[in-house]
Amino acid sequence: MAIKITGTGSALPEKKVTNFDMAKLVETSDEWIRGRTGIAERRISTGDTVASLAAKACEKALAMAGKDAQDVDLILVATCSPELLLPCCACQVQSAIGADRAVAFDLNAACSGFLFALNTANVYLRSGLYKNALIVGSEVLSKLIDWTDRSTCVLFGDGAGAAFMEFSETDDVCENGRLAGIEEMVMGSDGAKGMVLACAERTASNPYYKEIEQVKPYVQMDGQEVYKFATRQVPACIKEALDRAGLTVDDVDLFVLHQANVRIIESVAKRLKADLSKFPMNLEHIGNMSSATIPVLLDELNRDGKIKKGDRLVLSGFGAGLTYGASILVWDN
Ligand code: UT7
Repeated sequence: MAIKITGTGSALPEKKVTNFDMAKLVETSDEWIRGRTGIAERRISTGDTVASLAAKACEKALAMAGKDAQDVDLILVATCSPELLLPCCACQVQSAIGADRAVAFDLNAACSGFLFALNTANVYLRSGLYKNALIVGSEVLSKLIDWTDRSTCVLFGDGAGAAFMEFSETDDVCENGRLAGIEEMVMGSDGAKGMVLACAERTASNPYYKEIEQVKPYVQMDGQEVYKFATRQVPACIKEALDRAGLTVDDVDLFVLHQANVRIIESVAKRLKADLSKFPMNLEHIGNMSSATIPVLLDELNRDGKIKKGDRLVLSGFGAGLTYGASILVWDN
């Protein structure tokens, strides 16, 4: 039995906003942003929505898997920036791509969202309830950003990535002897530290009660606390997943990490004593797209032929919640 990713896809808005463009909006510089984060430019929506980007990414993933929308059993969209609270984004995607048979719902674990969707779908598929799943990370964070706050507005971008997962009855042994499919997963949450990265929605208001304190509906972040959390928790959960699978860092070919900050990724590589060349990065050109970063990078690597059948990948990320997770899989695509 195996649960495998058989198709990937991604979609980015066309509008590129460089660090030099950002310096016209707030007091910042290309030097500061590149030096502290590794980001040079990001894509910003000029009309794309979380649902429209997600639908485009899903169509590409289905085409790669050679499947029709009618074949889809389950759609899970991870997002923390939906345009609509109701209906959920996954139902909008279902309608847009014509996946009439699918069960569709959203999941919000912020930047860890795609990983949590992958792990959730893995459990559904393993249980035999569904045979396949479209999992998506999609964000239009630009609407949640305070464009006058230089400490956050330079970090984020918009985009979506998707993967099609399938259950197979039989084991698939790769040439290198590894069994294809998802091998292990670890997820964690630390709600007590949640307010270090937060974004408010509407406050309580009804005929009987009105919240006095009005909150700003923008992303607020204690960057240093998030940095400390990420550099400690990401290597720890990767180690935990490897230990559980009876593997070591040397057994891994690629670490596909949440693309928030080059310095965080370098620190994770150092703590794991792993070669930095095993940590592909693309955030220089697209910034931090929260739940979309891992599937967009996965799709890029896949389409560029940088992942071979039999390669062992660790996907790992962290985000608001606070949440974190890691999944280990052997590629078969
Ligand atoms: O998906 C999860 C998303 N969150 C993260 O990944 C956040 C993780 N944290 C980080 O990546 C880093 O903490 C940041 C990149 C956000 C900030 O880097 P830092 O090295 O922690 O900088 P800092 O917040 O300590 O700020 C240093 C200085 C401050 O000035 P003073 O007080 O030293 O005079 C800031 O006001 O840099 C200033 N600053 C800026 N200067 C130019 C903050 N933002 C900017 C900016 N341009 N955009």
